[in-house]
Amino acid sequence: MGAHRVEALEEAGRRVFAVRTNALAALPTLPRRAPMMRRCPTHDVNAESSTSIGADAYFDESWRVLRIERCEPAGSAAGRVGPSGAARGFEARQLTTRTFYPDGDPAAWEYAKFCVRSSVFTLVTAPRRSLAEIQPRPAQVVDHLFELHLDLSTAAAVALRETLSASHPLRRLLTPFLHQTITVNDRAHDLLVAERSMVSRTLAFTGEGLQLAWDAAPSLVCAAAMQPGGAAAELSGASPFERLMHIVDRERYLEARRAGGVDTPYERQAGRLYRVFKAYVEASLRAVYPTAASLAADAEMTGFAEGLLRSLSTTAPLVAQPGAGSAGGTHEVVAVRGLPPPQLAELCTCLIATVCDRVTAGHEQAGHLAVYAKDVRFCAWRWPVGEARGNKQSAITQAILTSFTFMPMPKLLAAPGSEDDWSHLFGGVAGEEGLRASYADFQRELRALADDFDAYNAAAPTRPFPDGWGLWTNHPALLEVSVNL
Ligand SMILES: [Fe+2]
Repeated sequence: MGAHRVEALEEAGRRVFAVRTNALAALPTLPRRAPMMRRCPTHDVNAESSTSIGADAYFDESWRVLRIERCEPAGSAAGRVGPSGAARGFEARQLTTRTFYPDGDPAAWEYAKFCVRSSVFTLVTAPRRSLAEIQPRPAQVVDHLFELHLDLSTAAAVALRETLSASHPLRRLLTPFLHQTITVNDRAHDLLVAERSMVSRTLAFTGEGLQLAWDAAPSLVCAAAMQPGGAAAELSGASPFERLMHIVDRERYLEARRAGGVDTPYERQAGRLYRVFKAYVEASLRAVYPTAASLAADAEMTGFAEGLLRSLSTTAPLVAQPGAGSAGGTHEVVAVRGLPPPQLAELCTCLIATVCDRVTAGHEQAGHLAVYAKDVRFCAWRWPVGEARGNKQSAITQAILTSFTFMPMPKLLAAPGSEDDWSHLFGGVAGEEGLRASYADFQRELRALADDFDAYNAAAPTRPFPDGWGLWTNHPALLEVSVNL
């Protein structure tokens, strides 16, 4: 669940890898004896939670754990001090750092590993010690609930319905990938996100802490690193269009990570799957638009791209908003409709491919967590101080939250003529023959990729550490076609 959060760093002249969550330590968590519990029965289940969330795990080049650093509130659970966080509306915690080593006390090491797993499970941010300094890093709640449900899939569904007529080829192409998305996201809001719903009852954060996490969400998604001022140093000096392309083109995004030192089997498989999506979109658009100029001349297509880019939290700061002209804020922005046709066609292709990729493989990676959630001895959304397991209240609320999820969706990989085959959508639309052909090619490519990934998994026992495991989160045969709850 943390593969997409791996960072490459330099320490004393050598390469190390890290998965970091310590910035969460700044978020207020429920005290052991919450005053509210005495008058509000709904807070009883939270009364045992007083630990902070967050732990940074560091690995050497061969992926052996070097150490775990854990930021914890100084002193007792009442060690929250102000007013340094007052500007953000909360009292900042004074934190101290404990470092754990694999050859140290065995019980302490087990506790540190549990904290890492549980903190990644909750959400992952940057290694800074203050919430005000949070840098763009993904988060479980952010990656899944915010980025995939509330931001990307919602914005795509809205843009599709507002800009594309019922028979538009792009609307037909995207229909499977947004299947039931409005219903799913409505349920996600009511069951998980709303105040006093399951997330607020299950996580360790106070209402204030959770609100701070939601407020910070737009700056915490992975792709925010590509924005002006983001963490992607290799993009210093890049034009707004180049930055925009690093957000909407997963191939560029993954290449930037590879250039930064993150080149893992997970990332390589993610890149292969994205290229299949991109080839499908390219072939489909070619079937409808013989030239880039003809695509640029389609007001519905450009309206969709512009509407979606203006809505997404990661791309909105880089795209000209209505009435804002060609420049906005502290940096130049992209006027989508003013782009030369070849650039506009490339932008549309990558944007559509990324929507397909994120709602399938992105959701599998960040959203399918039941296997982790089912045992609070492995990881928990909250746990008592010093205990390497969640308590029975955590187990109950974790199980209840999980029981709200896993609404079944059609499979991405579809045998021709099966109930998962969406090729009928192309009947009667412009470019029908080409669209049907590209869909058939797409399915063949997915099948071939699934076979390759099966072979990779079958050979896992023959590979030495750290590659002796299978990978499934990008496996086409396991992916569902749209986000589910
Ligand atoms: Fe989901």
